[in-house]
Amino acid sequence: MSVAISMPGFVIFWVSLCLASVRGDYYSATSELEALVDVEVLLVQQIELYLQKAEKQQENIKRFLENIEKVPDDLEYLEDYFGNPINAFITIKRLVHDWRYNVFEPVFDLGDFVAYKENLAKRLESADFKNPTKDDLLGATRGLWRLQETYKLPTSQLANGILTPGDKNELNVTLSASDCYAIGCYLNELQQHSYAVDWLLEAKAKSIREASAFPFVSELSILEQLAPTLNQMGNNKLAHRLNAEILEKDPNHQMALKDKPIYETQLAWQRDPRLNVAAAKVDESTKSEDLYQRVCRGELRQSPRQQRKLRCFYSDRGVAFYRLGPFQIEQLNLDPYVAYFHNVMSDDETDDLIEHGMGQVKRSTVGSLGNTTVSEIRTSQNTWLWYEQQPWLKNLKLRLEDNTGLGMESAEPLQLVNYGIGGHYEPHYDFVKVEKETTFGWKGNRLLTALLYLNEVPLGGATAFPYLKLAVPPVKGSLLVWYNLHRSLDPDFRTKHAGCPVLMGSKWVCNEWFHEGAQEFRRPCGLMNDSKKSISFKPIDVVYK
Ligand SMILES: *[C@@H]1O[C@H](CO)[C@@H](O)[C@H](O)[C@H]1NC(C)=O
Ligand SMILES: *[C@@H]1O[C@H](CO)[C@@H](O)[C@H](O)[C@H]1NC(C)=O
Ligand SMILES: *[C@@H]1O[C@H](CO)[C@@H](O)[C@H](O)[C@H]1NC(C)=O
Repeated sequence: MSVAISMPGFVIFWVSLCLASVRGDYYSATSELEALVDVEVLLVQQIELYLQKAEKQQENIKRFLENIEKVPDDLEYLEDYFGNPINAFITIKRLVHDWRYNVFEPVFDLGDFVAYKENLAKRLESADFKNPTKDDLLGATRGLWRLQETYKLPTSQLANGILTPGDKNELNVTLSASDCYAIGCYLNELQQHSYAVDWLLEAKAKSIREASAFPFVSELSILEQLAPTLNQMGNNKLAHRLNAEILEKDPNHQMALKDKPIYETQLAWQRDPRLNVAAAKVDESTKSEDLYQRVCRGELRQSPRQQRKLRCFYSDRGVAFYRLGPFQIEQLNLDPYVAYFHNVMSDDETDDLIEHGMGQVKRSTVGSLGNTTVSEIRTSQNTWLWYEQQPWLKNLKLRLEDNTGLGMESAEPLQLVNYGIGGHYEPHYDFVKVEKETTFGWKGNRLLTALLYLNEVPLGGATAFPYLKLAVPPVKGSLLVWYNLHRSLDPDFRTKHAGCPVLMGSKWVCNEWFHEGAQEFRRPCGLMNDSKKSISFKPIDVVYK
């Protein structure tokens, strides 16, 4: 994309800013994005100041030019004019002095701009600003694409800011032709060519309507991306047609001239089937992935028959403290046990946690304990809260024990997580391969997962259990619990779960993992080995993520 700013210093300035930046990671959490807003406000202020000054300067120069135009250029009058010594002086002075100091220096000396640039750089530094990087843009694009793919959103609808067909969830933002074009280009980089074509076509339609938009993208640039992408997708006919459109606009277009014979050959092949070599289409999504997406979209649900035995009830879980204000329990699945506890946290508590997490979260990693990496499997940011260091979490810790009936002796610290644009966590298990004793003090495998929802997510962000056909929507202040292990403490493969992409808003959750250790009397093992129940769900190549 071309940035149509004529000040040469400006481009240099941005480049130097980019070089100085640390690798940012803005796309995986909404809280990080909020920092960008402050920086933009600062930029607007500074550039407005600069423009004000530049405008004033321009006005002065215009006035100066108008003055000169008053000088008669007719020879007859000139003689009279210079007959007056004052006029002679003014003219000479103008050429010796005024042009130089009032026009050439202000226009050609960028000293003023340099001062602004330095000032701005200093302010940005004091704001501790990391410039978003290309990776961030690619990440954000991947997020949008994931939303589109998971929730089957038509491109034109998404480009017009509509996330659901009803008008309730309309965002008041639309994407410009230039935005759509950029998304198309990035999707090409991400090898999502069919989606890229959709976005480029959208950009093309919009660019015709948006002739005076800024930033502007020309139809030619769009066609330059679109034709080769279509060809790559196997649509040579349309690629050839668009290539011809490019040549119509620019008969000497190098790329189009080069591609023209290629497209023509391919079209000839198509007319003669014997020459047609069809490229095998890559199936982009596996079956399990498909199941997960269908559950996230709400296409697959539990049948009424499966739901018949589920109950909602009040319980104090045998703790006298909760006799008057019992827990509100909503069973979601009996075997494996998945249940919702409602109103577990007050708004103050959830807000405190979110506030604490702002600015502290870092990109989440995946992997077995002690050996983890950043991955597109999990796009979110998190931080760990150790109870010993956070006395204000004492009540929450006690409540988690009372809710689950388990002890925290061998539980992990609380994990605070924020999901940003299209943020998600692909289907995975919570249990980990236990290699004898871990370096951490946690004994045994992850027995139970307790997931606290800290805010409302307007759309998307459910916790999906593909095999249980269950998508649990986030409810602020509620707690979702499930057992990852059978009574025999063997892994329960039916508990595969995922965080559906966040479609609108930001998603904040806390994870607490209770381990096997010290739960002997709280959740005793069964007499029978019940691990057979989930054996048919066991993946062939077990990957614990
Ligand atoms: C969107 O615009 C409509 C009408 O212009 C307005 O009523 C509504 O509050 C806006 N919504 C948001 C989220 O800004
Ligand atoms: C971490 O995992 C990678 C591959 O996933 C492996 O190559 C590496 O040896 C592991 N490191 C440790 C310390 O286990
Ligand atoms: C239960 O049975 C499975 C398979 O038959 C076996 O792999 C597992 O070790 C058994 N678990 C226990 C606790 O004995």
